[in-house]
Amino acid sequence: MKKLYIETYGCQMNVADTEVVFSLLGEEGYVRTEEIGEADVILANTCSVRDNAEQRIHGRIEQFQFWRKKRPGVLVGILGCMAERMGEALLESGKVDVVAGPDAYRSLPRLLAAASQGHPQIDVLLSREETYGDIAPVRVDTNGVSAFISIMRGCNNVCSYCVVPYTRGAERSRDAHSIVREACDCAQRGYKEITLLGQNVDSYRWETLDFAALLALVAESVPELRIRFSTSNPQDISDAVLETMASHANICRHIHLPVQSGSDRMLELMRRRYTREGYLERVAKIRALMPDCAITTDVIAGFCSETEEDHRDTLSLFEAVGFDAAFMFQYSERPGTLAARKYPDDVAPAVKTRRLEEIIALQNRLSLESNRRDVGKTFRVLVEGPSKRNPAELCGRTGQNKMCVWPDTVHKAGELVDVVVKECTQATLLCELA
Ligand code: SAH
Ligand code: SF4
Ligand code: F3S
Repeated sequence: MKKLYIETYGCQMNVADTEVVFSLLGEEGYVRTEEIGEADVILANTCSVRDNAEQRIHGRIEQFQFWRKKRPGVLVGILGCMAERMGEALLESGKVDVVAGPDAYRSLPRLLAAASQGHPQIDVLLSREETYGDIAPVRVDTNGVSAFISIMRGCNNVCSYCVVPYTRGAERSRDAHSIVREACDCAQRGYKEITLLGQNVDSYRWETLDFAALLALVAESVPELRIRFSTSNPQDISDAVLETMASHANICRHIHLPVQSGSDRMLELMRRRYTREGYLERVAKIRALMPDCAITTDVIAGFCSETEEDHRDTLSLFEAVGFDAAFMFQYSERPGTLAARKYPDDVAPAVKTRRLEEIIALQNRLSLESNRRDVGKTFRVLVEGPSKRNPAELCGRTGQNKMCVWPDTVHKAGELVDVVVKECTQATLLCELA
């Protein structure tokens, strides 16, 4: 029996893919270990989205050499987006035995077998069909409450800053039957929440089903589960999706709607296919249909040629929307992207940092204001387990994806309980049982 250790970096898609890899290699007799020191195979499922994500992996590859020397025969493999982007260059370093891109995981048993004979192996072919739809993922999360279900792979957008279309290939949607089967399987295994995943869930299309239809189908197939989804693209999120959300109580009131910038000039250079006004219209529509729906976002500070005025447009958009939370990044040029080829990365690093800090400071205030509006309200939360800080308290999330903590020695992970918000910080709602 060979022991398999996998570290996962990057987005939720990679978490879902790692579960597919555990399943594929499990069928070949590999058993999962969480102890790197006892692993026969060490894999890192990697991310290329920003340079610092890749630098981190380079550091980890150096550390893996310790285990390769200590226990000859141990194989090191790089999976995911960085495997796809760097390919041969990773093998040439002599520090890894296997390189497998996101669509090549079915080859892993063969690649690992050949590598164990001393021949480094690579497969970074992208596919137009692969969805791993027939693979039952081995869930690696420990709480047993929440599961990811991948509904599509790849991306057909060409946002000029983004490496994902190059590392993940063309967009393809997974067979709806296999999605529903996986959702039902999660319900049977005791999961209470599923998150449907894709880079662009609104472009889901399988036979006659679009994303709104899939969402309704899943919500009705597992009425006892909470349903989440990510990521929605502002240019594609349809009224039908919003209406489906509004008409299904088990679809969580949360939309992650990455805006990237508040400036129309930046949005055009970024090749996002919406305007500031179009974005605000979507926000207004969401709030008209679901006044209690949380809206979160991603933003990039310091994209090519961004001026102070463009930056102020981003700040004013944040203020206008009042996001409940945001992931905030400095622009990082990615080799091979349209922006890298066409636009100079000309905002000085110190300026990027300062603009990012201004956005973070603003969002911190908006997050606190959003949480303050919840004080006094009652929410149904899904218990995740004991809170990190205090074992006499439980933690769990509202449908809006806000973290709650409350004193409780009665309930257990996976239960739904009603709590009333007493106080808050910028990150957490401090509650009591209702
Ligand atoms: N498919 C999703 C996002 C995938 S990447 C979408 O379109 O919304 C997640 C986030 O990383 C993006 O929303 C963007 O904010 C950020 N990001 C992507 N490329 C980046 C880059 N080159 N530099 C900085 N941030 C980037
Ligand atoms: Fe990247 Fe744009 Fe595709 Fe998102 S939609 S993965 S940002 S290219
Ligand atoms: Fe990173 Fe690839 Fe996800 S680049 S963000 S792991 S799709």
